Amino acid sequence: MFNLILFGPPGSGKGTQSDNIVAKYGLVHLSTGNLLREEIAQKTPLGIEAKSFMDKGQLVPDEVVIGMVDSYFEKHKNAVGFLFDGFPRTLAQAKALDSLLELKKNEIAAVLALEVSEEELVKRLLNRGITSGRSDDINEDVIRKRFAVYSNETKPVAEHYKKLKKYHSIKGEGTVQEIFNFICEAIDKKLNLM
Ligand code: AP5
Ligand code: MG
Repeated sequence: MFNLILFGPPGSGKGTQSDNIVAKYGLVHLSTGNLLREEIAQKTPLGIEAKSFMDKGQLVPDEVVIGMVDSYFEKHKNAVGFLFDGFPRTLAQAKALDSLLELKKNEIAAVLALEVSEEELVKRLLNRGITSGRSDDINEDVIRKRFAVYSNETKPVAEHYKKLKKYHSIKGEGTVQEIFNFICEAIDKKLNLM
């Protein structure tokens, strides 16, 4: 299996680039944000609980998210690899992911981190909020809250993978195609080493 984490703050282009990556490399896309929004749309108990956190820009509790990821693995037993988008977002999630993969005699090949300035991120998210219907995109306070959560709770995940020498920074500003080219370069380099 070839497993990648696409890492970066809210609005850095994880979802956009994930579509391109899975189309080219045949990985299974695992976006915890998308899975949670599906639960909300279906009004499941998990979705109802998650919504109260998401609307405020806070993280959904680790055990809820890890449980969801575990059952996604069960549903995709024959995957050639996963592309993780928006997960892991806390150190506890990163450690749980490492253990789940270890059970399958697998690991994360690389963490690709999209670097984008905060000014550009706010612009992108407010712009997306006009059409996306995402309740966490409409209010600038909620967007700023998501950045604060990213700094406090998600940055330690970057440190974790830096220590393991798996972390690669990618320039996240420019056209979608330019950024995709940088990502492909990093992936191909990794694949050639395997
Ligand atoms: P999640 O859905 O993961 O959202 P996020 O991390 O806040 O990131 P976004 O989806 O907002 O941005 P993105 O990086 O995907 O960028 P996109 O490609 O859309 O999480 C939402 C919430 O769910 C969290 O706040 C939390 O509550 C909960 N949650 C999810 N996962 C969790 C977890 N693991 N643990 C706990 N809670 C969890 O691009 C953004 C916009 O910019 C788009 O309009 C796009 O068209 C545009 N754009 C993209 N690329 C470019 C470019 N190069 N130039 C110009 N515009 C661009
Ligand atoms: Mg996204």
